Amino acid sequence: MPMPDSSLQPVKLAREWNAQSWRARTATQMPQYADAVELESALAELRRLPPLVTSWEILTLKQQLAEAQEGRRFVLQGGDCAENFDECSSDVISNRLKVLLQMSLVLVHGMRKPVVRVGRFAGQYAKPRSTDTETIDGVSLPSYRGDMVNGPAFTPEARRPDPRRMIKAHARSAMTMNFVRALIDGGFADLHHPEYWDLDWVGHSPLADEYRRMVTGIGDAVRFMETLSGAEVHNLNRVDFYTSHEALLLPYEESMTRQVPRNWGWFNLSTHFPWIGMRTAAVDGAHVEFLRGIRNPIAVKVGPSVASDQLLRLVDVLNPEDEPGRLTFIHRMGASQIAERLPPLLEAMRRDGRRVLWICDPMHGNTESTANGYKTRRFANIGSELQQAFDLHAAAGTRLGGAHLELTGEDVTECLGGARELTELDLERAYRSCVDPRLNYEQALEVAMLIVRKQTQLSAPV
Ligand code: PEP
Ligand code: CO
Repeated sequence: MPMPDSSLQPVKLAREWNAQSWRARTATQMPQYADAVELESALAELRRLPPLVTSWEILTLKQQLAEAQEGRRFVLQGGDCAENFDECSSDVISNRLKVLLQMSLVLVHGMRKPVVRVGRFAGQYAKPRSTDTETIDGVSLPSYRGDMVNGPAFTPEARRPDPRRMIKAHARSAMTMNFVRALIDGGFADLHHPEYWDLDWVGHSPLADEYRRMVTGIGDAVRFMETLSGAEVHNLNRVDFYTSHEALLLPYEESMTRQVPRNWGWFNLSTHFPWIGMRTAAVDGAHVEFLRGIRNPIAVKVGPSVASDQLLRLVDVLNPEDEPGRLTFIHRMGASQIAERLPPLLEAMRRDGRRVLWICDPMHGNTESTANGYKTRRFANIGSELQQAFDLHAAAGTRLGGAHLELTGEDVTECLGGARELTELDLERAYRSCVDPRLNYEQALEVAMLIVRKQTQLSAPV
């Protein structure tokens, strides 16, 4: 008789959980839909639509995150703060893919370990806001909560939360995934041809020489291996790409949460790697309740106000079995606070023997406003938070396993500084984000180089 396949057996089903159990908890950051019938009809349609990812991809990613937890891989998670429906276009998608591929090439080359590539795309359409309404000249309207909920224009029609937007978000996510998968299957990410992913800047950037040297070095290594083995090294022509987004709009996430024929339990099939944002991470809140019961790897953003006991309770609820790769904490403290806020959390987790993957988001704790009214971030602060994160983990005996970045493949001017030393005056030239400021392609690559330099310095014998 064949042995039962243990991967099909539940270890222990999450206690009293179902895809709707979050509805009994306090759900913050949720839009108020005016028409319950319209909402239910949109959700019924979503429940019939095909998923965007598969359970076996999700489980493969979980395995890779478990390896990152052990220091055998590094995670690069990046993309827009918020995608929008208008920018679901060929150029935007392929340029974003190019910059992520270039960064991962720099990281693989410099860190000598495989990189797990996770995009903030194909579903990053819902945003938390600091207030429910926005008031201009005495007129108050619901805040813009991302294209999946309402529109950014300050009119009552645009700001009305529209459930049909969830269906459009699903379609746009599917188009994005489809194009990314087709590019990768077609050899776009082939290490034999890194010139496919050149962006225009490579000709004139101060970083171009360093990048070119690296690409030539990798090309030589590939040819050397092929000469040695007498055959083409085939697995170099494809890479894996995973998707992630903030699991904020719970009715949408619920509608994409399904059971599948050959794996036990429930999977959120709208993305591989959903995360809970800082504003919705209450241990007894609806978002934590929802993510508790799915089998995806999940992440939680951890800000400067989180105390050690809160973090331990999140682990109790979200990863009671101490499953490798299951839980990631993305800390986002700010360059001026990380040295004070992070070490007690690392120490509490280490003392308690809890295993998580730690990722640093050096973006969200470093947002500021300029005198001319732009929301921006300084490259120096982003770099500083990342470098401090490496040092603080090393000092605590824990490990920084990845970086989480807001970036774009476009030539925008949203963050200050970097190799081209962008100033406040430059922000006016190409500031395009409706939400948070992103690293442009050049600044993003510079972050990858900075990570490599830092890691090399830490691992050098003294
Ligand atoms: C974000 O990632 O865009 C975001 C809102 O982050 P946080 O929840 O960390 O503030
Ligand atoms: Co953001």
